Amino acid sequence: MSNGWSVYVIVLIVINVLGCGWLLFANRSVQIDPREKGQSTGHDFDGIEELNNPLPAWWTWLFIGTILFSAGYLVLYPGFGSFEGVLGWSSANQHEGEVEDAKTRFGPLFERYAAVAIPELVREPQAVAMGSRIFANNCAACHGSDARGNRGYPDLTDGDWIHGGAPDTVVQTITHGRNGVMPALAPVLGGEAGVEDVVQYTLSLSGRDHDAAAAGRGGVQFAAICSACHQASGVGNTAIGAPNLTDDVWLHGGRPEDIRRALEVGLANQMPAHQTILTPEQIHLVATYVLSLSAQGEATEAMEVE
Ligand code: HEC
Ligand code: HEC
Repeated sequence: MSNGWSVYVIVLIVINVLGCGWLLFANRSVQIDPREKGQSTGHDFDGIEELNNPLPAWWTWLFIGTILFSAGYLVLYPGFGSFEGVLGWSSANQHEGEVEDAKTRFGPLFERYAAVAIPELVREPQAVAMGSRIFANNCAACHGSDARGNRGYPDLTDGDWIHGGAPDTVVQTITHGRNGVMPALAPVLGGEAGVEDVVQYTLSLSGRDHDAAAAGRGGVQFAAICSACHQASGVGNTAIGAPNLTDDVWLHGGRPEDIRRALEVGLANQMPAHQTILTPEQIHLVATYVLSLSAQGEATEAMEVE
């Protein structure tokens, strides 16, 4: 804060505090004539009369207390222009202190867990619990508090991976982020009719209701254009983040109009990089949490199949 502003703020504060004091004493010092005590002052609002009574003592003292408190506060804490307060407190160094505390408390634990491979760490409930807190603070806003995702935000519990579910790959995804980009392909599909054919073929890939004749024509287009990324069979390619189109798991919706829209306007989906937000040890733990969820997912799927 420049000197000019500092003086301005100090003057404002002094005027305010003195003003409050003045207001109190100006009103309190009025001697109430004992004969008028409790009598009407002659002010009448909608039938409610104002009586001539002094301010209650407890209220006056409370008011004086708050004025003294403000003076004490301004001596101890920052507030009086650029004066930093005798305690030297600031929200920034309080935060730094807390971060330091957390480091000394959790540092050894983080280090110990960082040395354990993720497939083993998923069996340590405390590590998974720490990961779940990191998830709640950094990931839940997009992937949902239960990690089941939403349209455009992948479900992380289903064992179905766009970019791959190997521990190293998941760490990579979280650290550097991912870009899921598919260009608008309607122009190369020969307009509306061509798009419709490919939509029908895509529906057929995961066994959805479709028009067989249109799907037949669409299959030729798929082989020529889509297979470059989604592979000839449509199972996708984790190396470039092209999803599996045969498993009936949809990131952007599996209705004909959703697929049509993806082909007409394209897709651009971003998972932000977390390397500047989280330490490698934290990423290790949150990846552990994420993989603990899909391990459960696989277990339930296996049970359902039985
Ligand atoms: C701003 C929203 C956002 C935040 C925050 C976010 N993600 Fe994502 N995440 C996405 C999107 C969108 C994708 C899909 C990217 C794509 O389509 O290729 C994704 C993809 C992923 C994937 C890949 C899934 C797959 O099937 O391969 C993982 C793993 C993941 N996120 C984990 C996390 C974790 C862990 C965090 C917290 C540290 C996190 N994400 C925070 C939006 C987000
Ligand atoms: C250049 C590579 C590329 C080509 C070519 C391509 N795709 Fe994609 N496609 C992707 C990527 C990457 C995504 C994932 C986008 C995301 O992460 O949100 C995707 C997503 C999709 C989705 C959404 C899947 C879901 O789960 O919601 C559909 C449907 C789709 N593609 C169909 C097609 C069809 C049909 C063609 C051919 C006309 C095609 N794609 C050609 C790369 C491609």
